[in-house]
Amino acid sequence: MSGNENLLELRDVAKTYGEHQVQALKHVNLVVRKGSFACLMGQSGCGKSTLLNIIAGLDTPSSGSVVFDGIDMSALKDEEVTRIRGEKIGFVFQFFNLLSTLTVEENVSLPLELTTNLSHKARRAKVLEMLERVGMQNRIDFFPAQLSGGEMQRVAIARALVHSPRLLVADEPTGNLDSANGTMVLDLLKELNSDLGQTIVMATHSQEAGSCGDSMILMKDGAIVSQTSTRAGSD
Ligand SMILES: Nc1ncnc2c1ncn2[C@@H]1O[C@H](COP(=O)(O)OP(=O)(O)O)[C@@H](O)[C@H]1O
Ligand SMILES: [Mg+2]
Repeated sequence: MSGNENLLELRDVAKTYGEHQVQALKHVNLVVRKGSFACLMGQSGCGKSTLLNIIAGLDTPSSGSVVFDGIDMSALKDEEVTRIRGEKIGFVFQFFNLLSTLTVEENVSLPLELTTNLSHKARRAKVLEMLERVGMQNRIDFFPAQLSGGEMQRVAIARALVHSPRLLVADEPTGNLDSANGTMVLDLLKELNSDLGQTIVMATHSQEAGSCGDSMILMKDGAIVSQTSTRAGSD
């Protein structure tokens, strides 16, 4: 595990859906280094969500392999994939996916309840620290419906990161936000990457969002067509 700079490696990953044999992914090879912030770009339908779902263990490839944190995910049983996903990967969605009947604090606490044996007090301390980091410490008793879209996404980011996952996967996290809130969320992701060294893979079809990481991966028709470094002199 240690000494290996790569957090994630996809080898010749393909995904074909259903009776119509839609080739959502074709021969995808990708390496994500620890501490990097990769932006996955391309038009709607090019395969970004399919790729992120496979990376996050929410979906399985039709062929090829995904090596995450030194573990070949394709060799594991479903329940082991579920456990690794819960412990090591945080996911942020376009539509936030907060649980409407839970408060901000309860939403953010959930991954800790599911993946750790921490006491209520220890969980609360972590939740408050994370909410402070995303600037939502004054809303802990609010319900999602009482928050703006930008606030909901900041809470969702806190929930995704509260248990310190190795990887944050974000699928169009600004896709449902106005530009001011979108910029705020992107600034937060940049800060989490630079301050905490959080590894991030984010899909977006916005040029502004796509240039906020340290590499830009361009997809077309289920394939990666180019990968460019957008941050000079890193490392
Ligand atoms: N569950 C599914 N069943 C059949 N086809 C799917 C499914 N999910 C995605 N697709 C198809 O795979 C392609 C890639 O979709 P997607 O990964 O959602 O693209 P993006 O996120 O870039 O918009 C599209 O042609 C889409 O219609
Ligand atoms: Mg998508």
